Amino acid sequence: MSRLVVVSNRVAVPGESRAGGLAVGLQAALQERGGVWFGWSGRSVQGESGDMHEQSESNIRYITMDLSKKDLDSYYNGFSNRTLWPLLHFRLDLIDYDRSKREGYWRVNALFADKLAPLLREDDTVWIHDYHLIPLAALLRERGIGCRIGFFLHVPVPSADLIQALPDHRALFSTLYSYDLLGFQTRRDVDRFQSYARLFGGGRLIDANWIQASDGRRVRTSAFPIGIDTAHIARQARTATSNKPVRALRQSLENRKLAIGVDRLDYSKGLPERFHGFEHYLRRYPQQKGSMTYLQIAPVSRGSVNEYRKLRMELEQLAGHINGGHAEADWTPLRYVNQNYAHSTLTGFYREAAVGLVTPLRDGMNLVAKEYVASQNPDDPGVLVLSLLAGAADELKQALLVNPHDLDGVADAIATAANMPRAERIERWRAMFEHLSVHDINRWRRDYLQALEGLH
Ligand code: G6P
Repeated sequence: MSRLVVVSNRVAVPGESRAGGLAVGLQAALQERGGVWFGWSGRSVQGESGDMHEQSESNIRYITMDLSKKDLDSYYNGFSNRTLWPLLHFRLDLIDYDRSKREGYWRVNALFADKLAPLLREDDTVWIHDYHLIPLAALLRERGIGCRIGFFLHVPVPSADLIQALPDHRALFSTLYSYDLLGFQTRRDVDRFQSYARLFGGGRLIDANWIQASDGRRVRTSAFPIGIDTAHIARQARTATSNKPVRALRQSLENRKLAIGVDRLDYSKGLPERFHGFEHYLRRYPQQKGSMTYLQIAPVSRGSVNEYRKLRMELEQLAGHINGGHAEADWTPLRYVNQNYAHSTLTGFYREAAVGLVTPLRDGMNLVAKEYVASQNPDDPGVLVLSLLAGAADELKQALLVNPHDLDGVADAIATAANMPRAERIERWRAMFEHLSVHDINRWRRDYLQALEGLH
């Protein structure tokens, strides 16, 4: 088996960040075959970009690079998060495009290529992740790298007409032909990418999976819906019920039902709409008043980007408005919390919750939806209310699927979920849990790597 080299903007360096499900899956792959995980160090420095750090643990070399404040501002805060992120989440209205930011994005990608190229061996398998690093394969090829390189996009692909609105979209997206395999979250993302390639990207469809560029290069495009570490999360949730914060939450509810949402504070997650939907529920079902508390955990994300700051202010105002209008002396309907919790604590919270609210306006997959399901008590599971605009909706068909823009629909789904008979809850939960047990994070990375390595 060839060595695996994973490249992503963020690297789950041991001991530094709390590793999420994805990190655990990638670490398992790296450990099995030996490998390198390469990316940004998470540090922004005063001088120049490019200082390298290295650390090894169980067969994995973690190699990271510092970025200057200026580079970080244009590559990460700028082009990645103010141009590509809104574009890829269908939000042309929020795009902020700036040539100098775009140049910074390319400059940092070229620096990644400069630092990575000398580390690579001919028979390595390189796996590059997400929208921060789209041109990296093309830049590596320019530096003479011939090994297999795959890309996985964790976020959605918008339709061709939206992509067309990005200045210089061809220069950016044509670099995708330098990969051997393009992995997307859902078949719909594959279809939209193929139609973009056909309409604007100079590509020709050979069959359901292959695109040929005008220079003859072929790239395989397929869906690999990402999973979670299902068995581990189920175990973790069971144990977490006796954790202190989980017990404290349970006691504080005083026998009321719990609805829970856990999202990065991001406009793609549909949080204002969800808050409004919950308020509609309070108004439409006055007889249920006081019977449920909604806990929304929303850790601040990309806080130096203006759109995220505005969203935070909006949510603060809305939370105050909802509680002001509906709270009683002994009951607060909405608990809005910006602090982050340990992953194991979150699984315990999920297990306490009769209703899981996952209503993004767009989401590549959404792993909270999957983790909520995996965390449930099999004898008395909660009900997932899931946006049909999340990639996860293609798999979790037994959830209560809602359109996040239809506030009355969300309100009705909350009421239905809160009052669903146990037999129906068990039936729905079981089907989803079985799916998640088979299609877990290990299956995902095996399927992807098999597809990539089967190509040569
Ligand atoms: C999304 C992206 C990831 C990103 C994560 C957190 O899930 O697909 O690439 O790492 O958000 O965002 P951040 O900007 O904090 O890395």
